[in-house]
Amino acid sequence: MARVTRTIGLSLGADLCWPAAYEEVVRRLQLELPLGRDVVDFAVERVTVEPFDLQQPCRYDLVIDRLTHWFNTSREWIKKAVILDGLYVLNNPWSLQSMEKQTTYVAMMKLGLPVPRTWLVPPRRHEPTADLQPTLQRYARLFDLGEIGEDLGYPLFMKPYDGGGWRGVTRIKDEAQLRAVYDESGATLMHLQEAIEPFDVFVRTIGVGPQVRAVRYDPGAALHDRYQVDFHFLKGDDWAYLSDQMLTINGFFGWDFNSCESLRKDTVWHPIDFANACPDFQVTSLHYHWPDLLKDVLRWTLFCAATKAEMRPTLDWKPFFAIAKKDLPFRERLAGYAEITRKRMQADRFADFCDKHLSHLDEVVWEFMGTDQARALVRGKVAALFPEHEVDSFTAHFWGLIQFWRKTEVDRLDAVGKPLSADVQQRAPLPIARKA
Ligand SMILES: Nc1ncnc2c1ncn2[C@@H]1O[C@H](COP(=O)(O)OP(=O)(O)O)[C@@H](O)[C@H]1O
Ligand SMILES: [Mg+2]
Repeated sequence: MARVTRTIGLSLGADLCWPAAYEEVVRRLQLELPLGRDVVDFAVERVTVEPFDLQQPCRYDLVIDRLTHWFNTSREWIKKAVILDGLYVLNNPWSLQSMEKQTTYVAMMKLGLPVPRTWLVPPRRHEPTADLQPTLQRYARLFDLGEIGEDLGYPLFMKPYDGGGWRGVTRIKDEAQLRAVYDESGATLMHLQEAIEPFDVFVRTIGVGPQVRAVRYDPGAALHDRYQVDFHFLKGDDWAYLSDQMLTINGFFGWDFNSCESLRKDTVWHPIDFANACPDFQVTSLHYHWPDLLKDVLRWTLFCAATKAEMRPTLDWKPFFAIAKKDLPFRERLAGYAEITRKRMQADRFADFCDKHLSHLDEVVWEFMGTDQARALVRGKVAALFPEHEVDSFTAHFWGLIQFWRKTEVDRLDAVGKPLSADVQQRAPLPIARKA
């Protein structure tokens, strides 16, 4: 048997907490996987930014990339490494570069998802370029913004066609405000979108490979409080529906790690923002959900690296469009789209891999999340974001929610018949003693 090391690269920007947790958990897992004729182990390294020869080899098998949407040096290095060296990357940089929120809306409308009605309007002001004047003089039609507002109805949302981080998003209540906000919008290309109001539930799904997590979300809350700790907000088919929707989106665009915002109004789920291929992964946003998301990312990346998963060279939309054309109830078409994604993502093989090789992941993460080292990571992230006088209280807040996760995780593992060993519970006891 030959020993081979799979090297996972982390291509990072301001990320602090999850990379350190990821590295430490991989270390603690002590993986030595018998795969075919090899014994596979793993190394995790941080990708540095430096000049590169287009033909230089790449020592990574897989990269988790957090920069493609804005940092060209890393994006171009990744594109080179995918083509020349067979690198697997989360997420597909070409797809990410070319699909803005606008394209994702259009594509999902084509598949029949109830994306809210949306107009695109030319920008209020144009950056001057050589051909601008003749183009506008010949072809730009005067339009009445008020008519578009009337068509959509109020309130409506004005937001950039490419979206991201709430930049330039305004809820507009009437025509006067529409005109005023448009006048202020400058050169930004804007959507006007029907508001999904009132909605009864707002959910963020986070998809990592074939895994989907659904978290209740409160867009009106303070930043640290938007992801909610709630267990009873989905009924009946809601969870399976939202999972299929997330898989449909991610399979269609070739994304492995993405989030989707969905609002439920009159029992219908409306997806409003799902081109988030660098989803929030900070403990200061995810708190209770952070260890679970970390596990999702670990499982999927270890699977892809271990099995040398190949990036799909094309997005291949035809099978999705073939289902879209079928005369079937929408729920069945959605299940059909999701099935394409499950196959593309080798969902069954992935599940077997996790059962066989990562059965100790739950225990390792549970223990790690009780250590001083994990607490220091939380504190480090809090210190980077909050003013000094709030660092103690917010560290205690997020740490408390992670310990609550550990409590519910004990219950969950009991319920699924995989209780934590007495050993591990002794090594990393919960802050509140469990009843014997
Ligand atoms: N059509 C809509 N109906 C209701 N709320 C919306 C709508 N569009 C946006 N919002 C609200 O505005 C927020 C930001 O809009 P979003 O499209 O998510 O922009 P970004 O890409 O910047 O995250 C959403 O999280 C939601 O709270
Ligand atoms: Mg959003």
